[in-house]
Amino acid sequence: KRKSENVEVAEPRNKLISPASSLPTDPTLYSGPFPFYGRPSELGCFSLDAQRQYHGDAQALRYYSPPPTNDQGPSFDLRDGYPDRYQPRDEELQEGLDHLLRWLLDHRGKLEGGPGWLAGAIVTWRGHLTKLLTTPYEQQEGWQLAASRFQGTLYLNEVETPAARAQRLARPPLLRELMYMGYKFEQYMCADKPGSFPDPSGEVNTNVAYCSVLRSHLGNHRLLFSGEVDCMDPRAPCTQPPACYVELKTSKEMHRPGHWRNFYRHKLLKWWAQSFLLGVPNVVAGFRNPEGFVCSLKTFPTMEMFEYVRNDRDGWNPSVCMNFCAAFLNFAQNTVVQDDPRLVYLFSWEPGSPVTVSKHQDAPYTFLPTWYVEAVTQ
Ligand code: A3P
Ligand code: MG
Ligand code: MG
Repeated sequence: KRKSENVEVAEPRNKLISPASSLPTDPTLYSGPFPFYGRPSELGCFSLDAQRQYHGDAQALRYYSPPPTNDQGPSFDLRDGYPDRYQPRDEELQEGLDHLLRWLLDHRGKLEGGPGWLAGAIVTWRGHLTKLLTTPYEQQEGWQLAASRFQGTLYLNEVETPAARAQRLARPPLLRELMYMGYKFEQYMCADKPGSFPDPSGEVNTNVAYCSVLRSHLGNHRLLFSGEVDCMDPRAPCTQPPACYVELKTSKEMHRPGHWRNFYRHKLLKWWAQSFLLGVPNVVAGFRNPEGFVCSLKTFPTMEMFEYVRNDRDGWNPSVCMNFCAAFLNFAQNTVVQDDPRLVYLFSWEPGSPVTVSKHQDAPYTFLPTWYVEAVTQ
């Protein structure tokens, strides 16, 4: 049985807490003071292996191992090994929150604050929160987030939009290679063991992932989320995660001030949002030339990224990002009132429009797997 309808706007009893039917995203509406965001603290981790199988440990964690700085600088051929030494992950498999739920099932009994803490929390991927943070400035790609409440907890899971799916299936060969190059850069910069050196001769297998699981607060929302982490720096001043984590990125080599401006306005916003949420202190960028070689590296401390756009009228503002995210979480908390793992509220957004919501019972939007619901219900 499948039922979909637009959510009824409830009769406003109290204007302050009544659910609204949509949420605007204009940056001007969210420019208040920076909201409270707790320092993320790591609860645990898990790994996915070359076959995309879950392991409740750090076996996929790699170690930051940059090239020596005393010579001419790097010369990483990011196209090396493409496509013969490339094992891309099957993007048709929509895993939803499954790996994170598996971790949660194994650890929910040991969470600080007990089951009551989880009942008041929001559970999601860091990547979904990143999309929320950048929404007020996003002009290209919309998103859909499915939400279900179950035993008090609000679960948020991104749904691939039809447009995103069409784009993915029609991804041009050059873009496919560019994707590979991002992962290849990681291979040049990471070692399998602390103190050892990168080995770029092997395969690039994007099934492999190391994920950190963290808790934090945004305003009065408790968050439990997980994010993929590229590597940890064994020589970081603080070896405690997430402070020892490093995010790796590639970007086009830039030669004119206008290129840098654009980079600060668009790419750096995404890099900031992704790393700030998880508490990753540094992003190391490799700049690739038109031949696909990385010949220069630059470290961007996450907490200094805003400085590049602070005086730019067309720049971004961390307060706007965080206030919008908090407003969306309020909106979702007030909308998803029924506690039912088979009921999904689908939040949809397209650039230039407000966030809207529709309600769906059962397939195809439900995302809390039976194995999870049954194990938790017992
Ligand atoms: P770059 O962003 O360095 O080019 P992440 O940086 O989040 O660890 O992701 C690693 C790589 O995955 C990216 O490297 C990019 O190649 C690929 N990737 C991640 N998200 C992507 C997306 N939305 N579309 C295409 N490629 C993506
Ligand atoms: Mg990564
Ligand atoms: Mg990366």
